[in-house]
Amino acid sequence: MIEIKNLAKNFPGREVLRDLSCRIEDGDTFSVIGPSGTGKSTFIKCIMRLLKPDSGQILVDGEDIAALDDEFELARIRRNFGYLFQEGALFDSLTVFENVSFGLRYLTDIPREDYPRIVAEKLALVGLDKVEDLKPAELSVGMKKRVALARAVAAGPKCILYDEPTTGLDPVTTEMVTDLIVSARDQLKITSILVTHDVNLALHLSSQVAMLDKGVFAAVEPPDRFVKSESPAIKEFLEISSAGVNGREGHGGRPAHGGHGGRR
Ligand SMILES: Nc1ncnc2c1ncn2[C@@H]1O[C@H](COP(=O)(O)OP(=O)(O)O)[C@@H](O)[C@H]1O
Ligand SMILES: [Mg+2]
Repeated sequence: MIEIKNLAKNFPGREVLRDLSCRIEDGDTFSVIGPSGTGKSTFIKCIMRLLKPDSGQILVDGEDIAALDDEFELARIRRNFGYLFQEGALFDSLTVFENVSFGLRYLTDIPREDYPRIVAEKLALVGLDKVEDLKPAELSVGMKKRVALARAVAAGPKCILYDEPTTGLDPVTTEMVTDLIVSARDQLKITSILVTHDVNLALHLSSQVAMLDKGVFAAVEPPDRFVKSESPAIKEFLEISSAGVNGREGHGGRPAHGGHGGRR
């Protein structure tokens, strides 16, 4: 379980995260939405402790990781997390096998002879088979995303962090990545934290959705309640985003289930 209390993180001359609190239960899919530049990536980087918060607590199974400084401790903490960043490209010079087993080498004591089995299992999870010897240049955009997700979950994280997993993708690949996240959630039953400006994605996938606005969460609600929120920031963001929702539906995408809740 991850509990965040009064998290703050600013950069020189710029207030970003002022006061964030939330509780993410094991197995939850927790999404943070908000326009670009609101601090969504900063939030994810604080949880992974790639950034050190200015103040507040990040409790991971009761242990506060917000103030840790020791590199060994931080390495231990980061093992809890797998991540899929938008720009999180594969290592181009490495094969798929080497990419997916990367975390096994650096994060675990699993013996090398077990890697082929684990890599094949993780590739099967994302719907790939016999691609171990290929290089990223030989893969489609969708396959690269699949391999990146296989890599993210290879070392058995407790929680997976997605930063804008569908940004910049065409509608068909967006659909595929969405299904992939759903299947990782359902098959691995691990906690997922997703940050995105794609409302539709967040409403479709999440058990809780938070809106990041001016450094605080304007709301943390299940999707069906989120879409009915009276918060002006949320209303405005949902209105602006509805153009994007229609675009997705026009390409044969599925409507967000939370969206139905709002129109009922
Ligand atoms: N390492 C950094 N140093 C200084 N400013 C940063 C740094 N990282 C992010 N910022 C600033 O913090 C704000 C929030 O950034 P970010 O978390 O990337 O937003 P989002 O992911 O919601 O688009 C932006 O104004 C960005 O320029
Ligand atoms: Mg970002």
